[in-house]
Amino acid sequence: MANLKLDIRNVLSFIDEEVILSYQEEIEKHFEALYDRSGKGNDFLGWMDLPTGISKERIDDINATAERIRDMAEVFVVIGIGGSYLGARAVIEALGHHFYELKKEKDYPLVIFAGQNISEDYLANLLEILDEKDYAVSVISKSGTTTEPAIAFRLIREHMEKKYGVEEARKRIIAITDKEKGALRTLADNEGYKTYVVPDDVGGRYSVLTPVGLLPIAMAGFDIEKLLQGAESMKNEIAESTDIKENPVALYAATRNALYQKDKIIEILVNYQPELYYFTEWWKQLYGESEGKEGKGIFPAGVSFTTDLHSMGQYIQDGLRKIFETVISVENPNKKLQIPKDEENLDKLNYIAGKRIHEVNLMAEKGTTIAHVDGGVPNIKISIPQVNEKSLGELIFFFEMACALSGYILGINPFDQPGVEEYKRNMFALLGKPGFEKETEKIRKRL
Ligand code: PA5
Repeated sequence: MANLKLDIRNVLSFIDEEVILSYQEEIEKHFEALYDRSGKGNDFLGWMDLPTGISKERIDDINATAERIRDMAEVFVVIGIGGSYLGARAVIEALGHHFYELKKEKDYPLVIFAGQNISEDYLANLLEILDEKDYAVSVISKSGTTTEPAIAFRLIREHMEKKYGVEEARKRIIAITDKEKGALRTLADNEGYKTYVVPDDVGGRYSVLTPVGLLPIAMAGFDIEKLLQGAESMKNEIAESTDIKENPVALYAATRNALYQKDKIIEILVNYQPELYYFTEWWKQLYGESEGKEGKGIFPAGVSFTTDLHSMGQYIQDGLRKIFETVISVENPNKKLQIPKDEENLDKLNYIAGKRIHEVNLMAEKGTTIAHVDGGVPNIKISIPQVNEKSLGELIFFFEMACALSGYILGINPFDQPGVEEYKRNMFALLGKPGFEKETEKIRKRL
């Protein structure tokens, strides 16, 4: 059974429930198109099978690889960008100790990331650290040709081969890529790297439940079976009914589209737990890349409260009224800490002495919701009992399904990303990549 709960009561002073329920017919049509794979982008629906589609042998193999690498590495570098990066980082940061790198006793390698930028300083600093640490690496690229991870991998591979020798380096590199195409596949086959496959029918931003996400997550010591079980329970719940009143995915998709029609064109995903920062980044990619096309789409933004109440709070309370919030509300923390009593009480906090920190956080959440609703910001609440593998699995599948459904309501293909190519063409032209001569001539004139 899924534990995730959706609450749209704080939307209903902005839109009549009837308007949301009026999406019912459309929702049914789009669910059908998803389930019978007849809608736009239907060759990229493999993610719908992932919660149950991965075999026990594959899970065991991923865990065994993680175990093997753990014995040889203090640091595990995950190279990838976009969908080949954000899912793993979202889950690892959500589940990990906030100060893991500072812990003395470490049962698992510290997972760090590269290939998600082209910063010379970032990469140089990384190589400096890798001089000092025993490390292994996974290079993740579905296409096998993306510039950012290719640059990072070229540097790290050279570093690793110098440090450990070519033979040993081969044992420390894992490639996750297409089953047959692309430069990374060719290199991995030539070098004999351990590889995992990104399925053809799963796009990058829907790939966290493939080895793309599962291997780094297992490497960091988290339970990938529980993550998949969470996703499965959400999948089962969604399959039970297409009724907006019963199906949380249908309700979320209908509500955000109804808000969009009322000119609420920016959705802010709100968390009150800093460990969910990268989950928001993952969500932003999922929705931004899926829906932002053909001149349409809700702009996905994110904030971490209460931190950002001291920066973005003013705008949300009082700025342009084109926004709505979707809050991920965590019912219980994983640890326990109370506010201590202080005899002097100079900070005047004794009125909350003895209370759990989380209770204060929850009151901040409730108070903020009421303030923002009063200020004209509709509020959707998504509750999970705790931040753990199961809840994250539920959230992942919930948001993926809702994104597909929302995209279909919007009338676009939620599984392609034609716009992403534009910057690449210009960058290649500016760098003088062979084959881009005409573009190079044109674009240089514009500089
Ligand atoms: O969602 C997507 O398709 C993109 O964000 C890709 O994941 C990203 O561009 C990386 O692509 P690749 O895995 O081919 O290197």
